[in-house]
Amino acid sequence: MLPAHLAPTLSAALDQIHTEAQALFGQGHVADYIPALARVPPRQFGMAVALTDGSTFAVGDAQTPFSIQSISKLFTFVLALKTQGDALWSRVGREPSGAAFNSMVQLETEHGIPRNPFINAGALVITDILTTGYAHLDYALLGAMRRLTDDPALSWNVAVARSERETGHRNMALAYFMKSYGNFVNPPELVLDNYCRQCAIEMSCAQLAQATMFLANGGRDLGRDGSPDEHMLSPADTRRVNALLLTCGAYDAAGDFAYRIGLPVKTGVGGGIVAIAPGMGTVAVWSPELDAKGNSVLGAFALERLVQLTGWHYA
Ligand code: DON
Repeated sequence: MLPAHLAPTLSAALDQIHTEAQALFGQGHVADYIPALARVPPRQFGMAVALTDGSTFAVGDAQTPFSIQSISKLFTFVLALKTQGDALWSRVGREPSGAAFNSMVQLETEHGIPRNPFINAGALVITDILTTGYAHLDYALLGAMRRLTDDPALSWNVAVARSERETGHRNMALAYFMKSYGNFVNPPELVLDNYCRQCAIEMSCAQLAQATMFLANGGRDLGRDGSPDEHMLSPADTRRVNALLLTCGAYDAAGDFAYRIGLPVKTGVGGGIVAIAPGMGTVAVWSPELDAKGNSVLGAFALERLVQLTGWHYA
């Protein structure tokens, strides 16, 4: 836990990072393969830190809701792990893929079993598992995320979900390809509906930092009053989720992220990144311009600077 006397230091660090990050605008590009995301104004930056003692810090556009996209895969994976336990490892692996988030090449030689739950193929399998497990998956997922954020209005953006559903031919191909190997139970169309809605959920950095707090806190969410009141995951499963986020959370940039930042992360093409500092707190950062691997340019920079300034480390 960060001692209280260091709080002013953290606040100053966020201000400094906010200022430094401005110089990087223009180095990346907003995701445009989902047409509704191409319209997001690129020059935005927000960052929020939540500590396990309940204190929070924020800078820039930290209260602005954005499309969480693949950050949703963290929440669906946790839900699948909670409900299925180790049974899910017969459907999906836990190795880094070293390939693009939407790649399909490994599936052919690996019998339709995706490398990990965070690449698109793996996340589609997780959503397939949850589609079997829940009659109304989107409301089960939203319910869990509304409880974690204390925000009953948290929801998905209908236009973004529809935009991806109409243009997501590669994801549909991945689903059918896995079905040809017997690793897909439900109709791909139904699973894609659920998947596109989950990716289109909108949250702010402040909400994401709060919603992932259980991963920094041994599996326990912090209640409204600051006392642990919800047991999301066992300490052992929390450690396992963080290990997967460290090795697979940034796709084919996972090694680079571990080298530069050294914390478990999950990135999304909406420009968001969540980082977990076990025992310390969580960090959420958002800036829509992406690098060639689909990760936020300013977001990665901001996290790198934060660990330099705070000394937080995991790996
Ligand atoms: O399935 C997709 O392509 C998107 N809904 C999510 C991809 C994503 O966020 C990759 N992360 N950097």
